[in-house]
Amino acid sequence: MCGIVGYIGNREATTILLEALKKLEYRGYDSSGVAVVGGGSDLRVVRSLGYISNLESRIKPTGATTGISHTRWATHGVPSEENAHPHMDGSSSIAVVHNGIIDNHLALKQELSGKGHTFLSQTDSEVVPHLIQEEYEDNGGDLLEAVRSAVGKLKGSYAIVVVHKDHPDMVVSARMRSPMVLGKGVNEGFVASDVTALLKYTNRFLYMEDGEIALLTRGDIHVETLEGETVDRELTSVDWAEEDAEKGGFDHFMIKEIFEQPQSLHQTLTGWRSDEEGLSRELLRARMMRVIACGTSYHAGLVGRCLFEKFTSLPTQVDMASEYRYANSTLDDSLVLLMTQSGETADTIAAAREARRRGMKTIAVTNVVGSTITRESETSLHLRSGPEIGVAASKTFTSQVMMMYLLSSHMGYQMGRISKDEHDAIQTNLRYVIRAVEGILNDVSRIKEQARWLSKARDAFYIGRYINFPTALEGALKMKEISYIHCEGYPAGELKHGPLALLTEETPIIALISDDHTYDKMLGNVGECSARSSPVLAIAPEGDREVKRYTDRVITYPRIDPLFSPIPISVILQLLAYYAAKERGCEIDKPRNLAKSVTVE
Ligand code: AGP
Repeated sequence: MCGIVGYIGNREATTILLEALKKLEYRGYDSSGVAVVGGGSDLRVVRSLGYISNLESRIKPTGATTGISHTRWATHGVPSEENAHPHMDGSSSIAVVHNGIIDNHLALKQELSGKGHTFLSQTDSEVVPHLIQEEYEDNGGDLLEAVRSAVGKLKGSYAIVVVHKDHPDMVVSARMRSPMVLGKGVNEGFVASDVTALLKYTNRFLYMEDGEIALLTRGDIHVETLEGETVDRELTSVDWAEEDAEKGGFDHFMIKEIFEQPQSLHQTLTGWRSDEEGLSRELLRARMMRVIACGTSYHAGLVGRCLFEKFTSLPTQVDMASEYRYANSTLDDSLVLLMTQSGETADTIAAAREARRRGMKTIAVTNVVGSTITRESETSLHLRSGPEIGVAASKTFTSQVMMMYLLSSHMGYQMGRISKDEHDAIQTNLRYVIRAVEGILNDVSRIKEQARWLSKARDAFYIGRYINFPTALEGALKMKEISYIHCEGYPAGELKHGPLALLTEETPIIALISDDHTYDKMLGNVGECSARSSPVLAIAPEGDREVKRYTDRVITYPRIDPLFSPIPISVILQLLAYYAAKERGCEIDKPRNLAKSVTVE
């Protein structure tokens, strides 16, 4: 999705705007642009189709120290230079970058056209500078007031940043339902749609909230509500380092992030202790649990369901966030977990609002301190995985799953449903899990070999039971996202109720085997698939002899308590997806049509 950077300070603006914009390349984009003001020239706008390097080749340092930049991911209008941001008003005085969707842009365009405005692009965004131009005149040349009045007329979602040729000493920004963070340096201010763009320059951030407008000058950041009330919010310190958002010698962010998992899991485990202390005992009154999430986070929630039911005995429901609004029960007083690594997923944020409207207690589980979900929920649990840049989630998924073990066992113990010994054994097992993940990452040759074979498939099924049914869903999602192979995750017992009809010798089955009460039935399912001549790749615990009777294709994982097997198995499935996608020459970090955080509903 689109990326935004804004800067005001004493350094060459174009250098910072382009450098920071490159940190947002992973989000996917089709064009980019920059606008600078001051430094002896009026307003200079340069835009380009394709990579940021194209844009860079067209820009020369100007001496200007104020500006904005943008990467565009087309929604309204084809990818083209005309449709790229920044957009300008009719007098070429104002430049605006915009993320989000202006729902009433057609009506506004019509109204503005009636007043003599001419539009040069097919975008919804272009109405914004024209609207500001109108308001600028009506507000006697006050840029802040002009932006305030203009955004008051917008319907939909927006994160905008504005510069004006006559005000090189200010950058104005406003937010509604699209992320925006402000950064403070020494005599300089930054604004961006994602904190990773700014890690090189500062670690002091202020996350804007919906309905706020910010004025950045060289020495100050001033935030107000649209109604004019000053917002007095503390700056948040983010402990991510600049290198955390770089590839560090790996070919892709995704593989770097897969290999970071021993460390990220360790951080989740140790960091939990401080979150645990702050948890209110009121949560223990819960009569039911509900996890609400999208995509990979939803799969982590499904693992959570098994654990909450096991350790707390509470009935647990898991909802896709986009469907939650249609849930009708009025007797529901669940404790709601909103699981979102980015903290910015629009569907999950909307579900958080709905859950609170229905009077439920809410806990956010996120990787991004200060993200929108943390403000929309009463309590927050922090994953501490470090920044995840690859569009396909890897380390944040395993941290989410670990958080499910930690929270469910904490609640179970506090509620008296499990003993202290059982609680402590879970913590010990989680440490074994980290060692098992290290073991898998120490030798990936067998995984690469199977990935080469899988990369030839057109369709595949991932099957598992109980706590590894969600692992199968996640494995299939990972493979389809980055390799574009059509994959389905299925409860192994459901195959015979329909999908068996699809099995042929060209349909690989990836069977997730754990040494628990599902073991015999899983072996039966493997036999069922082999009998239909489908090749089976089994992911099984080390030392398993039985499974080899059904298939030669086996990848093993270190033997641990089977209840904890989803984490090591997931790491194997991430690697399978990664190496298969690499074999197929796919983009991996930026899969087609996908975005890292989905900020539209
Ligand atoms: C994960 O690989 C996907 N890119 C996607 O399903 C993602 O998990 C989903 O969009 C939810 O994101 P969130 O955790 O940031 O809310």
